[in-house]
Amino acid sequence: MSMRDPLYEEERTVLTGGPEADVSKHVAVIMDGSGRWAKERGMPRFAGHKEGVATVVKVVKAAVDRSVEVLTLYTFSTENWKRPKAEIEFILKLPKEFLGVHLPELMANNVRIEVIGDMGKLPVATRKAIQYAMDRTRHNNGLQLNFALNYGSRQEMLVAMKAVFEDLNQQKLSLDDLDEQQFSKYLYTADTTEPDLLIRTGGEKRLSNFLLWQLAYTEFWFSDVLWPDFTEQNFLDALEAYGQRKRRYGGV
Ligand code: FPP
Repeated sequence: MSMRDPLYEEERTVLTGGPEADVSKHVAVIMDGSGRWAKERGMPRFAGHKEGVATVVKVVKAAVDRSVEVLTLYTFSTENWKRPKAEIEFILKLPKEFLGVHLPELMANNVRIEVIGDMGKLPVATRKAIQYAMDRTRHNNGLQLNFALNYGSRQEMLVAMKAVFEDLNQQKLSLDDLDEQQFSKYLYTADTTEPDLLIRTGGEKRLSNFLLWQLAYTEFWFSDVLWPDFTEQNFLDALEAYGQRKRRYGGV
């Protein structure tokens, strides 16, 4: 994993008239298609998820190299508990395995690990490994790598709404002060910018309860490539496509 490449920065400035012009600062990814990838090869679904971790490693490297500020990966949704127990257990072991191997490299690259979602329901070993990684990387100020784990957008908004009511009851918040910006502070993503770009791999074109509030003005990029086959070049293609978009936020 290389740090920001000054040559790339220079080239991008020449091509676009400034490093900010075409850069997606926050990229969110729905990593879909690992089950089908395995099935196509006559392998069990978990083999697809294992291969999916290798893609995570590649995409994180690409994000660091391209100075993306936040990368949010949909790793396990509140709906994924409906899957067979063995598959759930397998997926929920992956963060610990990933961090066990890659934490030193993530530290070396100044990456900060965060989680969005209800960590309380994750296996203890997974929780401990993530907490350790979050503590170790807390002061890093490079890429913020968010794992959405046991995350569901509707659940997030319900939890937020309950906290809002509680604060209203206790007069820590007044109804007049409650606007979009205030409400955003009650979400898991309180301290994070909203995604500029959403990538979904695996051919489906839906949001699957991912960041429904935060994606209000996000640009979407869909790919038919199954997540384990997704390459650094595919990721760069998405960033480039984003650079061609004109964002108007409801204006003209
Ligand atoms: C959805 O594809 C994928 C998941 C629910 C799991 C995603 C997890 C990873 C890719 C690994 C995470 C990596 C780390 C480092 C924690 P699917 O299983 O629904 O695929 P399908 O649509 O082909 O069945």
